[in-house]
Amino acid sequence: MADGKTLDNVIQAKQMGRANMKHDMTTRMRRGRSSQGIRNLLRENDLLPNHLILPLFVEENATERQPIASIPGVYRETEDSIVQIAKEAEEAGLGGIMLFGVSHNKDHSGSDSLKKGGLLDRMISRVKDATSDLPVIADLCFCEYTDHGHCGPLTETGTVDNDITIENIAKQAVIAADAGADIVAPSGMMDGQVSAIRSGLDEAGFEMTPIMAYAAKYASHFYGPFRDAAGCSLQKGDRKTYQMDYANGDEALREVALDIEEGADMVMVKPGMPYLDIIWRVRETFAMPTFAYNVSGEFAMLKFAAEAGCLDYNNALMEMLMSFRRAGAQGILTYGALDAAKIIKNS
Ligand code: PBG
Repeated sequence: MADGKTLDNVIQAKQMGRANMKHDMTTRMRRGRSSQGIRNLLRENDLLPNHLILPLFVEENATERQPIASIPGVYRETEDSIVQIAKEAEEAGLGGIMLFGVSHNKDHSGSDSLKKGGLLDRMISRVKDATSDLPVIADLCFCEYTDHGHCGPLTETGTVDNDITIENIAKQAVIAADAGADIVAPSGMMDGQVSAIRSGLDEAGFEMTPIMAYAAKYASHFYGPFRDAAGCSLQKGDRKTYQMDYANGDEALREVALDIEEGADMVMVKPGMPYLDIIWRVRETFAMPTFAYNVSGEFAMLKFAAEAGCLDYNNALMEMLMSFRRAGAQGILTYGALDAAKIIKNS
């Protein structure tokens, strides 16, 4: 041998070393981590661009795209600039985009989103005209279109009127499907909304349009930046009479079970990172395509921590997104979708 040792010397030294060992080390977990090649071979989960859905904000009649201060790196797009981003998303091979309107035509019931030619209709049509295979998902809700910011018209006591809202949301679903939406995603947490949408779509001839139900959506404090971005902060009250209490887990399973019964094709848990246990339980219980929404506040935490020099954005983003895959998520809605797709491509 190059350093003058014979093979026998080396083997003898190793045997002596083993004899001196204090512990039985038959199993050494580090064997599986000893080189990049072995680590690649043993990697249990993957993260690919098609697992990622990019949420996008489209501001009505805006002339220039505006950065959103509370979510660094995210913009309110214009009805023109959205086309460019959608094309980028398609080229990057993303799983889809999710469109949110920033309306300047708000009223008590959010009627702009129920009209042909309204913002919801226009933004979906624009994007569908500009792309070919990219799944375009329409968020169905009224909070971006109501002047009080709640997810449907209010009763006299100031709470959202469930049964009127679900009738309206069925109409909203038809507007979205007719504009070309590939998937509709109701996020209002109204009882019976999935069933109302399914019937509405079927009656209008859209029986092949799938529903991605925001099935377990919590009344979360991590939506702060979104409400700023979408201009849907509440005039009064909170959303605790329709979104879930963050202390509850079993209730999420009941919500998901109902949505599946009502015809949901895919289910979602929202927010994501503080609810990994829920994602896991939903996936294990129902074996349905399960999505996680890595919401604005989670993403902003990462961005601001990176800006402060506390952590590396790219690496922490990939680790965060992989946690959803490990928890059983089929896909992840994340503001970091394009960044992650670039990182994956360059790795
Ligand atoms: C509206 C809606 C919200 C989000 C998505 N759809 C806000 C809310 O319920 O208040 C939040 C998304 C995010 O924070 O990134 N129904």
